[in-house]
Amino acid sequence: MKIALAADHAGYKLKQTIMERLQSDGHEVIDLGTDSSQSVDYPHFAIQVSRAVSSRRADRGLLFCGTGLGMCITANKVAGIRAVSPCDVSQAEMSRRHNDANILCLGQRTLEQESVFDILDVWMSTPFEGGRHERRLNIIAELEENWQSLE
Ligand code: RB5
Repeated sequence: MKIALAADHAGYKLKQTIMERLQSDGHEVIDLGTDSSQSVDYPHFAIQVSRAVSSRRADRGLLFCGTGLGMCITANKVAGIRAVSPCDVSQAEMSRRHNDANILCLGQRTLEQESVFDILDVWMSTPFEGGRHERRLNIIAELEENWQSLE
């Protein structure tokens, strides 16, 4: 798979670790920064990955910050993005099965390294189930255009 990644300063180290892991698993990575632990503003990096996924330059995206939360909030502003920040393997799995999540946001300060790998592996390998879940995702997509009037 082609994976776009980015981090702020608080997720930089985790991005580097995960990037190596993805490459050794045979994935193609697009590193969209940041490239050090010097303080930066996470929305600038979330938007880069979100655009790459939304435009289909990348199949999926990964975002890293202190908690995963600011990245997730920002990414979900972009049409076509379904970003999640799971706390455990079960949420990671369901975010693929039911929500077809296309960006995974992880917190370097909040997750143990072992659970990060488990979450990543499950998220990368679990398929979307489609069916009734597809219908619900279509409603979310409509909301992107029409959020003020759709019920
Ligand atoms: C940076 O201190 C921190 O706020 C950021 O990495 C992230 O956790 C925000 O959601």
